[in-house]
Amino acid sequence: MIRTTTRAERQSILDNAGHNPFLIRSEDVFIDLLTDSGTGAMSDRQWGALMVGDEAYAGARSFYKMRDAVERVMGFPFVLPTHQGRGAENILFTVLVKPGQYVLNNTHFDTTAAHVRHKGGLPVDLAVPAAYDTQTPGPFKGDMDVAALERFIAEKGRESIALIMSTVTSNGAGGQPVALENLRLTSQVARRHGIPFYIDACRFAENAYFIKRREAGQGDRAILDIARDMMSTCDGCTMSAKKDGLANIGGFLATRDEAAYKAAVQWGVLFEGFPTYGGMAGRDMEAVAQGLAEVVDESYLAQRTGQVAHLGAALRRAGVPIVEPPGGHAVYIDVLRFLDHMPREAFPAWALTCELYLEAGVRAVEIGGVMAGRDDKGQNAFSRLELVRLAIPRRTYTDRHLDVVAAALGAIAARRRDVRGVRFTYEPPFLRHFTARFAPLL
Ligand code: F0G
Repeated sequence: MIRTTTRAERQSILDNAGHNPFLIRSEDVFIDLLTDSGTGAMSDRQWGALMVGDEAYAGARSFYKMRDAVERVMGFPFVLPTHQGRGAENILFTVLVKPGQYVLNNTHFDTTAAHVRHKGGLPVDLAVPAAYDTQTPGPFKGDMDVAALERFIAEKGRESIALIMSTVTSNGAGGQPVALENLRLTSQVARRHGIPFYIDACRFAENAYFIKRREAGQGDRAILDIARDMMSTCDGCTMSAKKDGLANIGGFLATRDEAAYKAAVQWGVLFEGFPTYGGMAGRDMEAVAQGLAEVVDESYLAQRTGQVAHLGAALRRAGVPIVEPPGGHAVYIDVLRFLDHMPREAFPAWALTCELYLEAGVRAVEIGGVMAGRDDKGQNAFSRLELVRLAIPRRTYTDRHLDVVAAALGAIAARRRDVRGVRFTYEPPFLRHFTARFAPLL
């Protein structure tokens, strides 16, 4: 349902929500670009598949369908369903991370970093320097800095590192893809040192599409082949089926390491459920099995990434500085450039999400100082980039909707120096962005 509201209504909705877009009801949102996670439209075939879900507690047919789909698309023989991606992270880190050990990732997503810390581990981001240069386009700005990875291992010692991960695409850094060659180099380093290497595979198909379009020698290959090649570099993956599973809920941990799988199964039973459903209904496993078959379709991926590029181009024309180039699932606004009058203590990216809601009822998400939380000394951690992410749900909005978003941001651009910052009125101890409350600065 799409409902329009007046500016006065939105002002009171925002006040009641403590100036936190997460606390606004969806029916009060006109165009919802908060996330691409579980918010897409399922296909007719996925809806049809729901009707044949096998809800047996043990050995459900729907589990084997999902397992076979994962093996076909990713090549992993061992598959453990979880309620969503973070369920897989929790199990994997319980198996692999000892307190005090590092987890090295191109860029950790917020829940991934939080799960590492929950196990007593230390998440470290080792993205290439280009990831932090918003204005210079590049084909694979999601890459791991492999030289930095080597240096880190040499300095800290192999024993201090629990695992290496590559997040495809890099959600924390502009939704930028990782090159196949970079996955191979990362894999070589991991193997040489005997360190497990896992891929955070949420947006693996979008990443594979960029490899096809941008990487030398990949242009004639099928997306399925590229996806399987990506996965052949690693021991396994964590997956949120809410993204490139094209489903509304679900996820899995998949691996080719039988010992890791056996250990994971024990924790899976405790945290998620019996290993053939693990937090998912049979019908949802059906939807994911079908979704994985659809997501590697090249025409779908061309439309998908084309829509993100369309929004990026419209924003550029409207004078809004974005992370270049647009990513696979979202366009990110470079708020340190856009609201360059505002100090970081006033949380400019957060303030912009509030302003965008007020302007046009559009909901976006802050990936900046509020999400970054506090460091060990209790100071605001302030990540290097201060971004607003406009994430596009799959198969949901038209380009026309996105033009409305660009026009709203263009209107804000024209009076950007009037945008006010925010201060906390309530700050929870961790993952503060989800439930914090704010007041506008005077
Ligand atoms: N890894 C990445 C790269 C993600 O983007 C997400 C979720 C997860 C792991 C966790 O998956 O939500 O199924 O538990 N990202 C969503 C987002 C929430 O808005 O980007 P989950």
